[in-house]
Amino acid sequence: MKIIDGKTLAQNLRKKIANQVKQYSRPPGLAVILVGDDEASQLYVRNKTRACVEVGFYSDQIHKSSNITEEELLSEVNRLNENQNIDGILVQLPLPLHIDSNKIIEAIIPEKDVDGFSSENVGKLSQNKSFISPCTPKGVMKMLDSIKCDLRGKDCVIIGASNIVGRPMAMELLNAGATVQVCHKGTKEITHKTKSADVIIAAAGVANLVKSDWIKEGVILIDVGINRQADGSMTGDVDFEDVNGIASAITPVPGGVGPMTIAVLLENTLIAYEAKL
Ligand code: GUN
Repeated sequence: MKIIDGKTLAQNLRKKIANQVKQYSRPPGLAVILVGDDEASQLYVRNKTRACVEVGFYSDQIHKSSNITEEELLSEVNRLNENQNIDGILVQLPLPLHIDSNKIIEAIIPEKDVDGFSSENVGKLSQNKSFISPCTPKGVMKMLDSIKCDLRGKDCVIIGASNIVGRPMAMELLNAGATVQVCHKGTKEITHKTKSADVIIAAAGVANLVKSDWIKEGVILIDVGINRQADGSMTGDVDFEDVNGIASAITPVPGGVGPMTIAVLLENTLIAYEAKL
């Protein structure tokens, strides 16, 4: 079973970006807005900020209290929309329940929407003419490419239909010529579907959900899950030990999709920056 090393792939992408940045007089700038004190979100934002600094970007981290009003957050986004030193704006999700996330996402101008979550960028991706597309699915495509997986005609099953992963993942795979099924909480006989898949993207957020009796011999397993265990350790949505020897390739957790997501965020920021040159 081949282990797809996301850590090394991400490192290589970051090196390429850092070299590109050296030729510009003004550094690309990324603003990350974090609202509240969710521990996982704080960790993700810290990692994103660190990665920015490492490749020579300008990084602006904005931390707001969880009782910020929707109006205040909107004016923060508008301020960043107009800031010429900021090329990318990311609002870490989830937001507190009293704030309409959709309204905040749509307030970010599409040119600076480095998450690719705005309806304009989602629309472009779904028409296969993407400008900036969501980081995790784009990172997954790079991982599949790294093992020379030709997706044309492949049967792909996605577990999870979120706006952040499942839905844009379906569009990326469809654009690459695959046949795609998106499974979710209401899906009947899910193992029937996963058992005939050539590629499975597990993004359900359920620890060790995908087991040996869910898959066929030779399947490629992409594990997007990050689940914290009672002992503090991290595990994916795939039961790694159980599928070992049956799958042909797998992305590990940690060290798989996670680092790629961050590297692609930097790449998206560079794309946004270069579009303005
Ligand atoms: N929360 C979990 N994943 C993401 C992501 O890719 N972008 C943002 N903005 N929030 C997230």
